[in-house]
Amino acid sequence: MPETTPAAPEDPEVLAEFTARVRAGEQIEAGEWVPEEYRFEALRLINMHANSEIMGALPEREWIPRAPGLARKMALTAKVQDEVGHGMLLYRVAETLGRSRDEMIAELVAGRARFHNVFHYPAETWADVAIIQVFVDGAAMQTQGALRSCSYAPYARVLKRICYEEDFHIQLGLDVWRALAEGTPAQRAMLQDALCRWWTPIMHFFGMLDRVSPHTEKMLAWRIKVKSNEELRQQFLRKFVPIILEYGLDVPDPNLRWAEDEQRYVYTEPDWEELKRVGRNGGPKSAERLALRQRFHAQHAWVREAMSRWRARADGAVA
Ligand SMILES: [Fe+2]
Ligand SMILES: [Fe+2]
Repeated sequence: MPETTPAAPEDPEVLAEFTARVRAGEQIEAGEWVPEEYRFEALRLINMHANSEIMGALPEREWIPRAPGLARKMALTAKVQDEVGHGMLLYRVAETLGRSRDEMIAELVAGRARFHNVFHYPAETWADVAIIQVFVDGAAMQTQGALRSCSYAPYARVLKRICYEEDFHIQLGLDVWRALAEGTPAQRAMLQDALCRWWTPIMHFFGMLDRVSPHTEKMLAWRIKVKSNEELRQQFLRKFVPIILEYGLDVPDPNLRWAEDEQRYVYTEPDWEELKRVGRNGGPKSAERLALRQRFHAQHAWVREAMSRWRARADGAVA
């Protein structure tokens, strides 16, 4: 059974003490009392992160048999395995907030849960793999890197390991990126095309401009959110736009420019309606990927059954 947070009345004094502890930089361990809203929001965040890792393995998985050469196939296989491993670590952390892994997976395969917008899009060519590894993993690294200092200690701990591997994924992607960017005109064109198709989903990745609301303020005070969506998007642009320019490729947004006076990138606001639609599992590949996840889930039912029988027998032997 997962550890659950002991129920306690939300006494204003206890709540104030909790907020003060977190504000002072203390971290909360699994099983400690947390306000119900904190538990709900932290669980929502970690559950979606876990879903995104295992759904995010699918677009690149499709390219394992088609990756050029044995070394690329092996590297891509290892990367996809890392992502699934991240998912497993994160479901374990989510369980400490009171939901079982079975319940979370069942909700995901039934299409009732959310996963990150970028994993609802197709990976059409080999260049898409480079874009995913450099820019999608690069975008994820901004969010996850910031959350290493979040207030929920089990999440902060697994993020340290995850980020270590994510950094490696970006390096892996840069190697593919360089090979294509310095390759034939057809390879450069393929890379440019992939970059153009992925630009909007990547801009969407960080979410809409933050509204200043008491809710956002509370999430920031509780350190479930560490930086605003726009701060993370700007951090991403500062790191990754120079890579596009260095290799002489075009930034897909003609209005994107560095505003020296504001110390930020100005860009064309993407269509936020598309993000909302995709987030509700209405993206171009949502149904297909969910169907694949459902098929695997059904195919592997015998493993879960064997494991639970083994566990029941082991428990019986102990009792
Ligand atoms: Fe990951
Ligand atoms: Fe990754």
